[in-house]
Amino acid sequence: MQNLKSKMQMNYKNAQILDGKALAQRMQSELQARIARLQKERHRPPGLAVLMVGDDPASATYVRNKERACARVGIASYGKHFHGDTTQAELEQVIYQLNQDERVDGILVQLPLPKHLDAISLLYQIHPDKDADGLHPVNMGRLIRGEPGLRSCTPAGVMRLLEEYKIDVAGKNAVVIGRSILVGKPMALMLLQADATVTIAHSKTREIDALARSADILIVAVGRPHLIKADMVKPKAVVVDVGMNSITDEAGNSRLVGDVDFEAVKEVADFITPVPGGVGPMTVTMLLENTVFSYSRSR
Ligand code: GUN
Repeated sequence: MQNLKSKMQMNYKNAQILDGKALAQRMQSELQARIARLQKERHRPPGLAVLMVGDDPASATYVRNKERACARVGIASYGKHFHGDTTQAELEQVIYQLNQDERVDGILVQLPLPKHLDAISLLYQIHPDKDADGLHPVNMGRLIRGEPGLRSCTPAGVMRLLEEYKIDVAGKNAVVIGRSILVGKPMALMLLQADATVTIAHSKTREIDALARSADILIVAVGRPHLIKADMVKPKAVVVDVGMNSITDEAGNSRLVGDVDFEAVKEVADFITPVPGGVGPMTVTMLLENTVFSYSRSR
């Protein structure tokens, strides 16, 4: 009680949760209805092929979530799981066939791949119009140029979430921590496209704490549990946590945590995404959206 009283006196309030799970559910219901309508004209369902190589447990979970979501909305899955020692040439051949396959609207290679495979070169093989992950150089180029195209799912999901909560990005200082091809780089470009002033921070960035503290919008995608503490966040900031880290506590139970110390940061920020239930479900939903976008344009 004392705690609550002093909190009220100091005018603290908890941040509003950016509820990716709820928005994803709504969007998936809409997609399901849209697919049912489109299917009457096309006489086939949309199709997505998720390719996974090896048995990385986190990737296996993501792939399962993607395939389940496909089944929920009415997208047919043509995914394949390959043995960890599959060669580059074998995968290229599979992608070549999927590019030709008229039932398939989207192709995705789950990352990371085993070390002996060259992901960048493999992503080149996917036809840009079937590039459900938006990672082909043509789609990345379209993003840089501000042209329409298939967009990377996680950053597109973050933008959709900000939009839903009417968070105005224009003119804001946005700091993106992480520079991966999957999240950091396309995220920075999308924020720039929405007229934010964007800084990308990474492992060699100096004085990252002060930089993070300057952010009106802070996006964290590094994969380090609880990296971002309350004193690294500007009061009233919008904090988006893209991290998904599995940690094991002293009792031996494992659980999923983000890159942000949620409990502490929610006392400082105005908006915050939880983990799980924030960005993750939005990534999956944007993948479905991309697949249906390609489907709706196919002949
Ligand atoms: N690995 C983790 N997240 C993703 C994703 O969104 N797409 C792909 N291709 N690989 C991932």
